[in-house]
Amino acid sequence: MNKILVTGGAGYIGSHTVVELMNSWYEVVIVDNFSNSNPGSIDGIERIIGRRPVLVEADCSDYSQMHELFKKHSDIAGVIHFAALKAVGESVEKPLEYYRNNILSIINLLSLLREFGGKHFVFSSSCTVYGQPDVLPVTEQSPLKPAMSPYGNTKKVGEDIIRDTVLASANISAIALRYFNPIGAHPSSEIGELPLGKPDNLVPFITQTAAGIRPKLQIFGNDYNSPDGTAIRDYFHVVDLAKAHVLALDRLFKGSNKSNFEVFNVGAGQGVTVLEIVKAFEKVSGKKLNYEIVGRRAGDIEKVWADTSLAEKELGWKVKSSLEDALLTAWNWEKKVRGI
Ligand code: UD1
Repeated sequence: MNKILVTGGAGYIGSHTVVELMNSWYEVVIVDNFSNSNPGSIDGIERIIGRRPVLVEADCSDYSQMHELFKKHSDIAGVIHFAALKAVGESVEKPLEYYRNNILSIINLLSLLREFGGKHFVFSSSCTVYGQPDVLPVTEQSPLKPAMSPYGNTKKVGEDIIRDTVLASANISAIALRYFNPIGAHPSSEIGELPLGKPDNLVPFITQTAAGIRPKLQIFGNDYNSPDGTAIRDYFHVVDLAKAHVLALDRLFKGSNKSNFEVFNVGAGQGVTVLEIVKAFEKVSGKKLNYEIVGRRAGDIEKVWADTSLAEKELGWKVKSSLEDALLTAWNWEKKVRGI
């Protein structure tokens, strides 16, 4: 009745969501293939909660492995689907790998949910579906733009597959959460973001630079139309994002969703520049950051931030943590991982 399959539950956003689910009334089964996560996060979850989630090591894009899992846990009531490849640049080099992994996983999970009688599906979508919006902030009604990368397209196509499936199958309801830029780590420093190799994303790059692992941060472009010339994003605490998943699932369980497929923006609702992030990080960490301005990164948009009033009205969700809190937890996590 309350068993939730969390795909990618050992990963960055997945592990934080598992903590919030287990702190609520849900029983969790994690499925992860550790392609971009590590088993240590399961230990971290156990240290925070005092209980260990069930873990199945399997690949969501492999139908027979997933069928086995559903046979064993035939009482799965819902799925929160995080497991995906997510490196934008890599997706341009390896489009088929991205489509195969990200799209097959969605198809397998929806098929098995239907076959075994599960009812609820929450999907990790992204603000990338809006591209560079013409009007800011973006609402859920803002037009979607052609994806800038195969990765981005898997989010757009993923939403389409889910919408078409749930509209055809009255027994399944879905919510897609369009994340803006989640950052930070659990305040316990037991779980956090641990990219394999060189980080693509801004905040892990900053914390690794401050920890001395990277010589300097490169800031991609200072000729954007923004107060200091650097690009604008909507950064918010990953624990707030994790809580949005619990609220989305609660809504589906209560049946208070207004249609079989709903979409919500999830962000702080405020645009912040790269240089503002650097300054805020320096303030909370007390560390001076070595950085240089370089050219724009291919495929980057200039600015995006969310209108989150729909999530506030319908889910009762709003960010609680400040940007400074989020950056401090990111730094505390990095220090713990590096033994600083
Ligand atoms: C990126 C993806 C987005 C994906 C998200 C999660 C692109 C265009 N978008 O979001 O689709 O959902 O990651 O993986 O890649 N920056 C620097 N120096 C760095 C790293 C980043 O200046 O070393 C800047 C970027 O140019 C950008 C901002 O920091 O302006 C945020 O970058 P990032 O953390 O990669 O997130 P997004 O690009 O918003």
